[in-house]
Amino acid sequence: MTPPVKKWTYRDRIVAPSLLAADFGRVAEETTRSINAGADWLHLDVMDGHFVDNISFGPAMIQAIHETNDFFLDVHLMITRPDHFLPRFIAAGADLITVHVEPEADHDVASTLRAIRNAGCLAGLSLNPATPFEAIEDFLGEIDLLLVMTVVPGFGGQSFMPEVMPKIEQAVAYRQAHGLSYHIEVDGGIDPDTAKIAAKAGANAFVAGSSTFGVSEMASAITAIREA
Ligand code: DX5
Ligand code: ZN
Repeated sequence: MTPPVKKWTYRDRIVAPSLLAADFGRVAEETTRSINAGADWLHLDVMDGHFVDNISFGPAMIQAIHETNDFFLDVHLMITRPDHFLPRFIAAGADLITVHVEPEADHDVASTLRAIRNAGCLAGLSLNPATPFEAIEDFLGEIDLLLVMTVVPGFGGQSFMPEVMPKIEQAVAYRQAHGLSYHIEVDGGIDPDTAKIAAKAGANAFVAGSSTFGVSEMASAITAIREA
């Protein structure tokens, strides 16, 4: 795989439509639709039926998307043993790979993050709404992106949980105090209104499924989230 060009910094606003809300019968067209609508990244939710109670798609789908265009692929692994499957997602063309910190994900978090970076990908770490900031603190020096879940992962179309905003504020303060530069991404229930709340807390990357793929005017939806 070609190593991604590290084009964005945490000072940029990034909108990443989540393919989970797309028409799965027309994945190539849906991908093109999001690119034409001004998406920065395409967010790909991988679910294995173990870590979350849903099954979505895997490396074969991601490779097919990668082969149709050269877009930045933001892969969110909601799976157990992400370390075991990592080589397949790297080979499929992922640019950024995010893994979960919760013990149910069942892997050595530090070594998985190292393996992602060693492969030339950006490394992301995610935490669920119920997981405290302290669980990720030790890894913040080793990541390119922190994904703060704003819903319990597993399904699109859920309501944004404002109660996780303090974790974003903690992540901003930690980044500043330690001279780090990771992105802070939010995922779940994001629309122009909730993006505004998350942006105020310090998030700069916004995953949105229902409010992008789910509407006919995707371009204005993406602009509204970016400008929130
Ligand atoms: C939730 C996924 C999200 C989901 C977001 O488990 O990680 O990326 O697709 O969907 P919306 O934007 O509809 O909440
Ligand atoms: Zn996601």
